[in-house]
Amino acid sequence: MSAGTEGDTLCFFINGKKVTENHADPETMLLSFLREKLRLTGTKYGCGGGGCGACTVMVSRYQPATKTIIHYAVNACLLPICQLHGAAVTTVEGIGSTKTRIHPVQERIAKAHGSQCGFCTPGMVMSMYALLRNKPQPSMEDITQALAGNLCRCTGYRPIVDGCRTFCQEANCCQTNGGGDCCLDVKDETDEQDDEKPQLFNKDEFLPLDPTQELIFPPELILMAESSNLKTLTFYGERTSWVSPTSLDELVQLRSSNPKAPLVMGNTNIGPDMKFKGVLHPLIISPTRVLELFDVTQTAQGVWVGAGCSLSEVQSLLEKLAPQFPEEKTELFRALIRQLRNLGSQQIRNVASLGGNIMSAYPNSDLNPVLAAGNCKVSVVSNGGRREVHLNQDFFVSFGKTVLKPEEIIVSVFIPFTREGEFVSALRQAPRKEGAFATVTTGMRVFFSERSRVVQEVSIYYGGMGPTTVSAAKTCAAIVSKPWDDETLGRAYDVLLDELVLPPSAPGGKVEFRRSLTLSLLFKFNLEVLQKLREMNVIKDELPERIRPLPRDIQPSLQEYQHVSKDQSAQDPVGRPIMHRSAISQATGEAVYCDDIPRTDGELFMAVVTSSRAHAKITSLDVSEALRLPGVVDVITAKDIPGKKVRTVFGYDEELLAESQVSCVGQMICAVVADTKAHAKRGAAAVKISYEDLPDPVFTAEDTIEKSSFFEPRRVIWRGNVTEAFKTVDQLHEGEIRMGGQEHFYMETQSMLVVPVGEETEFKAYVSTQWPTLTQDAIADTLNIPSNRVTCHVKRMGGAFGGKVTKTSILASITAVAALKTSRAVRFVLERGDDMLITGARHPVLGRYKVGFMMDGSIVAADIQYYTNAGNSIDESTLVVEKILLHMDNAYNIPNLHGRASACRTNLPSNTAFRGFGVPQSIMIVENMINDVAVLLGRPADQIREINMYKGPSVTHYKMEFSPENMLRCWDDCKVKSDFSARRKAVDQFNQQNRWKKRGIAIIPIKYGIAFAESFLNQAGALVHVYKDGSVLVTHGGTEMGQGIHTKMQQVASRELHIPTSKIYISETSTNTVPNTCPSAASFGTDANGMAVKNACMILYQRLEPIRQKNPKGSWESWINAAYFEKISLSATGFYRGPDLYMDWDKMEGQPYAYFTYATCCCEVELDCLTGDYRTVRTDIVVDIGRSVNPSVDIGQIEGAFMQGLGLYTLEELKFSPSGLLYTRGPSQYKIPAVCDVPLRFNVYLLPDSSNPHAIYSSKGIGEPIVFLGSTVFFAIKDAVAAARSDSGLVGPFSLDSPATPERACLACASPFTKKIPVSKPGSFKPWALNI
Ligand SMILES: Cc1cc2nc3c(=O)[nH]c(=O)nc-3n(C[C@H](O)[C@H](O)[C@H](O)COP(=O)(O)OP(=O)(O)OC[C@H]3O[C@@H](n4cnc5c(N)ncnc54)[C@H](O)[C@@H]3O)c2cc1C
Ligand code: FES
Ligand code: FES
Repeated sequence: MSAGTEGDTLCFFINGKKVTENHADPETMLLSFLREKLRLTGTKYGCGGGGCGACTVMVSRYQPATKTIIHYAVNACLLPICQLHGAAVTTVEGIGSTKTRIHPVQERIAKAHGSQCGFCTPGMVMSMYALLRNKPQPSMEDITQALAGNLCRCTGYRPIVDGCRTFCQEANCCQTNGGGDCCLDVKDETDEQDDEKPQLFNKDEFLPLDPTQELIFPPELILMAESSNLKTLTFYGERTSWVSPTSLDELVQLRSSNPKAPLVMGNTNIGPDMKFKGVLHPLIISPTRVLELFDVTQTAQGVWVGAGCSLSEVQSLLEKLAPQFPEEKTELFRALIRQLRNLGSQQIRNVASLGGNIMSAYPNSDLNPVLAAGNCKVSVVSNGGRREVHLNQDFFVSFGKTVLKPEEIIVSVFIPFTREGEFVSALRQAPRKEGAFATVTTGMRVFFSERSRVVQEVSIYYGGMGPTTVSAAKTCAAIVSKPWDDETLGRAYDVLLDELVLPPSAPGGKVEFRRSLTLSLLFKFNLEVLQKLREMNVIKDELPERIRPLPRDIQPSLQEYQHVSKDQSAQDPVGRPIMHRSAISQATGEAVYCDDIPRTDGELFMAVVTSSRAHAKITSLDVSEALRLPGVVDVITAKDIPGKKVRTVFGYDEELLAESQVSCVGQMICAVVADTKAHAKRGAAAVKISYEDLPDPVFTAEDTIEKSSFFEPRRVIWRGNVTEAFKTVDQLHEGEIRMGGQEHFYMETQSMLVVPVGEETEFKAYVSTQWPTLTQDAIADTLNIPSNRVTCHVKRMGGAFGGKVTKTSILASITAVAALKTSRAVRFVLERGDDMLITGARHPVLGRYKVGFMMDGSIVAADIQYYTNAGNSIDESTLVVEKILLHMDNAYNIPNLHGRASACRTNLPSNTAFRGFGVPQSIMIVENMINDVAVLLGRPADQIREINMYKGPSVTHYKMEFSPENMLRCWDDCKVKSDFSARRKAVDQFNQQNRWKKRGIAIIPIKYGIAFAESFLNQAGALVHVYKDGSVLVTHGGTEMGQGIHTKMQQVASRELHIPTSKIYISETSTNTVPNTCPSAASFGTDANGMAVKNACMILYQRLEPIRQKNPKGSWESWINAAYFEKISLSATGFYRGPDLYMDWDKMEGQPYAYFTYATCCCEVELDCLTGDYRTVRTDIVVDIGRSVNPSVDIGQIEGAFMQGLGLYTLEELKFSPSGLLYTRGPSQYKIPAVCDVPLRFNVYLLPDSSNPHAIYSSKGIGEPIVFLGSTVFFAIKDAVAAARSDSGLVGPFSLDSPATPERACLACASPFTKKIPVSKPGSFKPWALNI
């Protein structure tokens, strides 16, 4: 069977329209079908592996048995089109559009400011839409569950949640009133003059949700489903065939004759294997139409659940059944429900099947340990007959393997009732609370002899502790027949420790943590069991504390900003919370991103081949096999580059394609161009490269210190004399902290399209970049043509965060070479894994410090050394290093300060700019040092901070004068707004009352320099055209990446031209309208471009003055018309020559910033010391941004940056193998904050009555500063850990590296369980991952 063989016709509906495919390829997923075939580009690609939710669509099916239609959200990237026969798909385009009527979900997310770059928005909209189709008045819990699988890198989720909250019945309530902390209970604190407080959006203007307006389910599909003559369907693709039988007998026959063919149900295991591991299945069997696999039968002993049921169906079934029986009978049901709620995302659970989960036999499957502990069994069938097999330790054989024979099929799974005296629990710990595979997961069951504490049966299974689900059989043997008490459990922990051993280099790492979790999860089970025994009056023991889950209800938050003055004209939009100008288009999926640009005739796709070695000579490059593959057109190597083979930025070169030698894994060597993306990818996989390894690759800061491997120049700065000052202080302390890097994880991966115009070597480049001019210059240099032959266009980016400043120009240059060589348009859109591998990240930093201080808390001297891991090329690392040193004083006036910073040259991918540009690393080290001082003095850290802050007219360590007045106002306001003193006491009280839960609170200030220290970058241009009809087209040098620059520029133009924003349009940024632009970076975009737009508009407005005077009552249109006939130019350029900033590193002085943005943040967390899991219960941020041009946009930047910082300091971990390969190449391995990480109360206050003479309309730059304030969560965790350590008798400074992941927090708590784990001697083994 192969392509070309006649198959069946696939029939399904998309947005109410019938789709018939005569040649459906089983390897085609719905996402590429929608985007490439149907040109429905609203559904986005973010990861391709089910981990980000950008591709969410809704699938509806008719169920003949119940005559109902079911609707569920799915990830289109993992859904084979062949699975859709008879289904109706709804995409974001199908629910509303600006051409017809937008849907209330689209409207509310947009108007609540929940869309910044907009790349995640269609997915968010569809997750929420699917929820509303099933439940028009959802609870907050429903909403957070529905959005749990959708990542957003821009907004910080709060506005999305607030927009969706308006659908709740009790629209403004967290719905826990009477059941714990309710938002209504805290109202008196915030409700004074509520009506007068400006609101970011007005929910009264929202369209009502009217379910009758939704698309109807196609009647043709109902007839199809009801028809009794279902027939086997077969589809043949290029490499794979698909068979979908309709009866169990047929399925059994197919399986017995093709035992290697997988049964594809949800495709959530097989799909990622095919996509990421290149597994090829010539035949796929799809049993989704075999009804027996979906049967549910209840018996006196329990319930048989069809193996084909999705995990969501299993969850609903158990949730329906559980309340129908006495609690004691449904212990197992409830344990499974608990586990299912945290397994994957709703999109995954809606398709992943029960049988698929069991048979995938993942090492960290969440269900298998519970099913096994709960005595479940499966009924299997093959042509040898039926049998029942118990899910026990013999069932799970090894990674991905079970005891079943290849031809056997699980028909159903038996989930028994529990008995009186039988308790079951499911516990898990994951890197992120939701949407993450567990680090360790367990199912535990104990059955007591009648009304006693003597154990009759016990069963304990773990996931995450070996290649598959493992039984702790010896531990169980140590417990059975014994009384459930401290003595038995004490012995059990020791046996467990011996029984579940992991080698120090075990795959997945976290060896100590995983081992300690096995103990602490058993301890948690112990506490649960004791509680139940006590409730049943079996025991009367005084219980240790009751373990409650961490709080989780997101409550309404405050966003406070200042009203515009009463005198301001109603038409003038400056200072008002205007919605992002593209939010509606983004929410309807109409907004066009680079890869949404329609294909041009003959267009080719590009895929790159990267180095698999960290440091090696390339000895041969064989592309012959790739060139023979179908669709492959050419292979591009360095030899094809006609011009410069390097891209130069700030005087530093970076090789485009490696020719003779590679210096990191992931370095690009060549590129394959082909007719389709799939063919290009296959071509790239077929290129063969041989290497000769070079000695001693360098990876860590310690390696570089040992080998003196640094980029020059290294930077030094000092004031005072630390050496002398150290001799005078009361106390000296030395410390060290390591900070990991951070992946940008912009939702839109690097994307570009280069089109040869066809004459005079002219090229149009459509690129997702923050710096179009650099891209233009790099392409021109590479192709050896003048810059005037290259136009770079940027409509918008789906997020950038610094990652699309310099690296994109390299990728675009290679794409341009391919376009030149083939004379065809070439599109290059990086897959998520390649993007993460190739394009670098935030610099990891090792900070070492020595501090001298007095007993009164004043810090007299500090010497800090920063080692930043730059990777294999310098890129912007020198500038990062400089910014690190310039911010090392933060808010503190330390009279003797000495800083040294180096960019370490390593054999890792080259790191680059990332929001904050070194500041988040710089200040982190300083604040950690201050924390140590506080601990050593036994005083609260906020006091030490306060004592050392700049006060009165001040001078920085680089001799720049400034007034810290607003910095201190932010600090004081934040203390008041957050009720810091009272909460500090409450936290201490909580900690006295709880042993295993601790709270922590921290308050941290920031002073952040705005503008580029490189003076020439502080310039901007604009071009404003007024057309004859009065409509205005504004173009400027800034690029839109979600930060709302175009919205703000529209506001500026509106004020200056005195016309409403509706008359003003911004189409794109392009190098042929505004030349020689600077990057949109350094939080300086609005400052610079705003002034340029203002300048152009003022020129135009002045030109109209004579016309206005002649006709003062005329309309704008009449003036423009008159001006045209009077031959007045209606086009003007604007220019802004920014401040002449400088930094003289020889003299160690300068004026590198135009001004400072100030802020203070207070955070409180609750930490589960047994697992390291934490929740931010409240965050208050006070920010001085002068007079905000657009408070909704600015608050969006603050919230988004804070959440990015929260990710940086507590969650996101880049992991590299000992040979330098990045392991974390997608959202499954790399966790950015999700909706579950939003602080439960998240208040933002813009400092009132602040002004700034240095920027447009007295505003301040805000894009970057707040990232650092995410560290407040880190320090609150550290505070909680300190409380836990003190219970263990440990006092004094302790080391906690960043990010403070659950692993690090838990181990730092030094509980009796973590202390039991033997630590392997460093150097005695090869760790699974490097400590970068
Ligand atoms: C982003 C993401 C997050 C996830 N998070 C979690 C998590 O937190 N916890 C967790 O436990 N899991 C998680 N998973 C795994 C997921 O639960 C499993 O992949 C899923 O349950 C497999 O079911 P499926 O129907 O999709 O299997 P498929 O991919 O369709 O098939 C998987 C395998 O099972 C076999 N199979 C399927 N049905 C049968 C049957 N009836 N009889 C015999 N063999 C059968 C197939 O032959 C195939 O080999 C996650 C997956 C993804 C993609
Ligand atoms: S693209 Fe489908 S989940 Fe990320
Ligand atoms: S708005 Fe969500 S990723 Fe940009």
